[in-house]
Amino acid sequence: MGLQDENDAAGSDSGLVEARPGRGVRSFPAGSRCAYPNCFAGGHTYGQVPMTVLVGVLGATGAVGQRLIQMIDPHPDFELAALTASADSAGKDYRTAAKWRVESPIPADVADTTVVETDPDEVPSDVDLLFSSLPSSVGERVEPEFVEAGYVVSSNSSNSRTADDVPLTIPEVNADHLGLIEVQRDERGWDGALVKNPNCSTITMVPPLAALDEAFGLTDVRVSTLQAVSGAGYDGVTSMEIIDNAIPHIGGEEQKMETESQKLLGEFDGAEIQWHAADVAASCNRIPTLDGHLENVWADTDADVTPEAAAEAMADYPSLDLPSSPDQLIKVFEEPDRPQPRLDRMAENGMQVSTGGLRETTDGLQFNCLAHNTMRGAAGASLLNGELLLEEGYL
Ligand SMILES: NC(=O)c1ccc[n+]([C@@H]2O[C@H](COP(=O)([O-])OP(=O)(O)OC[C@H]3O[C@@H](n4cnc5c(N)ncnc54)[C@H](OP(=O)(O)O)[C@@H]3O)[C@@H](O)[C@H]2O)c1
Repeated sequence: MGLQDENDAAGSDSGLVEARPGRGVRSFPAGSRCAYPNCFAGGHTYGQVPMTVLVGVLGATGAVGQRLIQMIDPHPDFELAALTASADSAGKDYRTAAKWRVESPIPADVADTTVVETDPDEVPSDVDLLFSSLPSSVGERVEPEFVEAGYVVSSNSSNSRTADDVPLTIPEVNADHLGLIEVQRDERGWDGALVKNPNCSTITMVPPLAALDEAFGLTDVRVSTLQAVSGAGYDGVTSMEIIDNAIPHIGGEEQKMETESQKLLGEFDGAEIQWHAADVAASCNRIPTLDGHLENVWADTDADVTPEAAAEAMADYPSLDLPSSPDQLIKVFEEPDRPQPRLDRMAENGMQVSTGGLRETTDGLQFNCLAHNTMRGAAGASLLNGELLLEEGYL
């Protein structure tokens, strides 16, 4: 039965909560309690809750936007209802506006959707959640406009990631930082909310670092990256620059890894984030792989740590039960030459972080880690944040 069928069938049963127009409904046993504190239906004893949250993608034609569309269509809770891009793409159907470069075909209904300008007036008001994959200069300008207009924005763009009242979240690591939304709403008078996911290279190393921190207390981190070309967006690096080459500079990337990881690993005290005191230093390199950032990490800890104990802490670090969560967040390879981008980036639908090569050095534990930069590192990261926002009642 389709959503509409379910909606119609359930609607005839008096006493059940009405779904918002255009939404489907999910049936629960009569008298059960609503799991969503901000459920629009208010009273929390009911027969149904809204099932489909209408979502949009800002910057839908780009590298991350395309991954978002691939991951959302289909999705158990989200339905795509708005696609935005630059003025050059607005007015075109999506198949014409986007140079589709994802392995699977463009979903048929998406292909025919008209792309609109990235402007709150162009997005239907019954859309609740917007995934933003805009260039940061654009995000800085338009994201606050969308939040002011009442939308919840889960954003990839680097603007505002380290702002005091903006949650920067990896759901498995610091879901409690979403509590900053209340601070943000109080301070800015917003009805919506702005939530960020970190930079793709930061997301790759922070889960294993969080596992080490929890078990042994992190003090120092040194990291050198080998980052794929898709991390620069479709127009980011030309073939003449990158084929047969490696570029030992990615503008601003080192600083993002250093600051974002301290905020992510910090403690939320109910009013602000106390950043983690670990000293983090990064060196970032672009290499000619398509997808998947590989990183060499040295991590020093308060307590002595053997490679075996570190492997156990990483492998046991819990995942969540969100629709896009991997079953196991961190896979630890025993083979010294893994993980590798081509072999391991798609593990668990591109949402798993892989580690390997764990060994003791004079500078602490050394290990390598890898994640798919446009999936776990970008589209999947903001999708997971969107799923967490729904789970935690912010939609
Ligand atoms: N790629 C990654 O691995 C990765 C990882 C983490 C975070 N990020 C971040 O995610 C964001 C998107 O990255 P990307 O790689 O997807 O970039 P991209 O491929 O260059 O795509 C940019 C998107 O933004 C739209 N856009 C550009 N200028 C605009 C304007 N003035 N107004 C409205 N829309 C505009 C583009 O639309 P048109 O097609 O119409 O130009 C396109 O849809 C960036 O902030 C990036 O730093 C990327």
